[in-house]
Amino acid sequence: MSGSRIGLEALKAKVMPAEAAAALIAPGETVGMSGFTGSGYPKAAPMALARRIEAAHAAGDPFRLRVWTGASTGPELDGALAKADGIEFRLPYNSDPIAREKINRGEMDYFDMHLSQVAPMAWQGFLGPLDTAIIEVSGVRPDGSLIPSSSVGNNKTWIDRASKVILEVNRWQNPALEGMHDIYYGTALPPSRVPIPLVRPDDRIGEAYFRCDPDKVVAVVETDAPDRNLPFDAPGEDHRAIAGHLLEFFRHEVARGRLPASLLPLQSGVGNIANAVMSGLVDGPFEGMTAYTEVLQDGMLDLMESGKLLTASATAFSLSPEAAATLNADMARFRDRLVLRPQEISNHPELIRRLGCIAMNGMIEADIHGAVNSTHLMGSRIQNGIGGSGDFARNAYVSIFMAPSVAKGGRISTIVPKTPHVDHINQDVQILVTEQGLADLRGLSPRQRAEVIIENCSHPDYRPALKDYLIRARRDSYGQQSPTLLAEAFAWHQRFIETGDMRG
Ligand code: COA
Repeated sequence: MSGSRIGLEALKAKVMPAEAAAALIAPGETVGMSGFTGSGYPKAAPMALARRIEAAHAAGDPFRLRVWTGASTGPELDGALAKADGIEFRLPYNSDPIAREKINRGEMDYFDMHLSQVAPMAWQGFLGPLDTAIIEVSGVRPDGSLIPSSSVGNNKTWIDRASKVILEVNRWQNPALEGMHDIYYGTALPPSRVPIPLVRPDDRIGEAYFRCDPDKVVAVVETDAPDRNLPFDAPGEDHRAIAGHLLEFFRHEVARGRLPASLLPLQSGVGNIANAVMSGLVDGPFEGMTAYTEVLQDGMLDLMESGKLLTASATAFSLSPEAAATLNADMARFRDRLVLRPQEISNHPELIRRLGCIAMNGMIEADIHGAVNSTHLMGSRIQNGIGGSGDFARNAYVSIFMAPSVAKGGRISTIVPKTPHVDHINQDVQILVTEQGLADLRGLSPRQRAEVIIENCSHPDYRPALKDYLIRARRDSYGQQSPTLLAEAFAWHQRFIETGDMRG
């Protein structure tokens, strides 16, 4: 692709190499970057910043930055900056392995927060000032408004809140993205907040572009680099079994009149299982479906291609190279059926509750009373972060969590007596699914939940131990609302740490 995508002369005059743009950031600044699950993140300026920080370290004059994003980004951003030891503090969601290691060694502070709350908290002033926004866009229009890229995330907020803006105009992004976005400018702080006028997943309530004062733009960098598109694993036997249990559950709910035949707007989390479930729906009986979700993975695109999913709303694409190519080749056709929105809207509790989303998210482990841990291994080591799972789980029509019943090649049960870290309290978890089966926890007390979860979801290798624990907890626990043997429950995890079983 050739030709400038910068339609405003005043901004053409600010085009410069990434190194020059990165030099405009002062040590210690807070920088708000675009990017969400490997889509639409800046690719050149963060690398140049990382090189500058490495040189500063070598010269004995090191500095670090505070980095805010939409969610996870790509190796050119989180990976490069973490490797250069350039991040002092980061929010809100990270899945980069180098950054993860730094966080788990205590060398980087990380605020793992609900994704819907990032923009409001920034506006409320709770997060401190924002110095620079570095935002990837797919073009600049003659009036200075910006054509968003393959994710929206927190870009609107970063552009509005930052003292200065650096734009990366990426020619790799398909020009047919123009018109797909819906940027809502109606949010306000209490006491001036008003209802958000969205009543269907495909409603458009805002503008197709970001507003941006050209005087705030200090640099424009032109790039031509792909998003980080990682392939998904082909669905394994466990994943197919989980998808099968869920399809059966949906059929049952439709038959009982608790869900319409077209279901309700689907939310599907990140990762291979969520992707496999979406692919599984292609072979299901449900037609005329919609999605109101955070990311669009391959499975959802398959569902759209099958004609069963009519429209989808999200904040970002998260596609394999093949799916990205399919979408890119046919963007104009998809454009009218897809909407990309700011993450404060894609994940907004008011809207999730109003639309009645079916929330389907992955988990690390669940305890026998139904509390879910999505983030921490052995209670202390971060895997990724809570992301949008809490936004959806608390507010969904029905909240579903899923995982294989064992991890680490069978050495660890994902159904445990007590999870040492809780992201989703048992009131926010209505359905648990493993390849073993599905536990419908709606209306059950913790004591009842424990029986159903162990029976339906635990792996046969661990079921006797869990049953034995439950019998003793019902005898010896301090209280009988949620029977628990504290020392023994945590010894369950301690054993894995001591034997090193959670590695590999
Ligand atoms: N104990 C120890 N390790 C465990 C584990 C457990 N109970 N469960 C999973 N793991 C490990 C896996 O072995 C794997 O480790 P590896 O990378 O070394 O192989 C890693 O955790 C990821 O697990 P995986 O089986 O690949 O699952 P996934 O890709 O489906 O991810 C979550 C599962 C929970 C990590 C993921 O869904 C997540 O980050 N969720 C939180 C955010 C979220 O829900 N976002 C969506 C909202 S819209």
